[in-house]
Amino acid sequence: MIDLKSPDEVSRMRSACAAAARVLQDLAGLVVPGVSTAGLDAAARGLMARHGCESACHGYVVGRLTYPGYICISLNDEVVHGIGAPDRIVREGDLVSLDVVVRRDGYIGDNARTVMVGKVAPEARQLCLDTEQALHAGIASIRPGSRVGDLSAAIQAALAPGGYGIVRDFVGHGVGRKMHEEPQIPNYGKAGTGPKLLPGMALAIEPMVNLGTPKIVMAADGWTARTADGKVSAHFEHTVLVTETGVEILTLP
Ligand code: MF3
Ligand code: CO
Repeated sequence: MIDLKSPDEVSRMRSACAAAARVLQDLAGLVVPGVSTAGLDAAARGLMARHGCESACHGYVVGRLTYPGYICISLNDEVVHGIGAPDRIVREGDLVSLDVVVRRDGYIGDNARTVMVGKVAPEARQLCLDTEQALHAGIASIRPGSRVGDLSAAIQAALAPGGYGIVRDFVGHGVGRKMHEEPQIPNYGKAGTGPKLLPGMALAIEPMVNLGTPKIVMAADGWTARTADGKVSAHFEHTVLVTETGVEILTLP
């Protein structure tokens, strides 16, 4: 069962997503050489307080693990769910993926982007541009009555010319009161398949794309996913609302 948000819920989603977008936008400006990822995490905590929301990641429980950070910060070959640390220093040329999930008034806003620090390698730069473009190709496929498979296929098709590794171990998701609701939204798939998208559905769409192999390995911390071949990865995410006429991006900065 995919939840349909009522008008009141939609207005709460709008507010949570606007806060998530502001936090991410402000934080992206703080990603400069010399800053530690723990410093970025602490800054995110402060920005959430300033924008009237709280972290939905901090204290998030999966199995026997509790997430310790306020946001996820993943550097270079880290794909998702990296944890800020005082000894991880951002350098010129790095890719820094920031994933900001906030709760406000009982509802979640979820968005992510990969920030390029100064001059990055041309293929890493192209990966970031293509991953963001694939996110928007996926969003553009959405209309009332289109299917999850249409969205997945649009993302996959946008990435095909680059020959990238599309991550399969993590997917996009429905979002609302909970961070992860139905449906799952893979970043690859077949048009015309999967659940129908209807007005009132809120979706977090998030291609995670590797320069090399799509395979990932988990770090000893139980959270950080990195590429199996050590090549870089990019991650862009928006929360969107399916409307009567099409789609609205709720996390535009
Ligand atoms: N956007 C990520 C996701 O949808 C956020 C994870 S927060 C964490 O999975 F607490 F699980 F790290
Ligand atoms: Co998400």
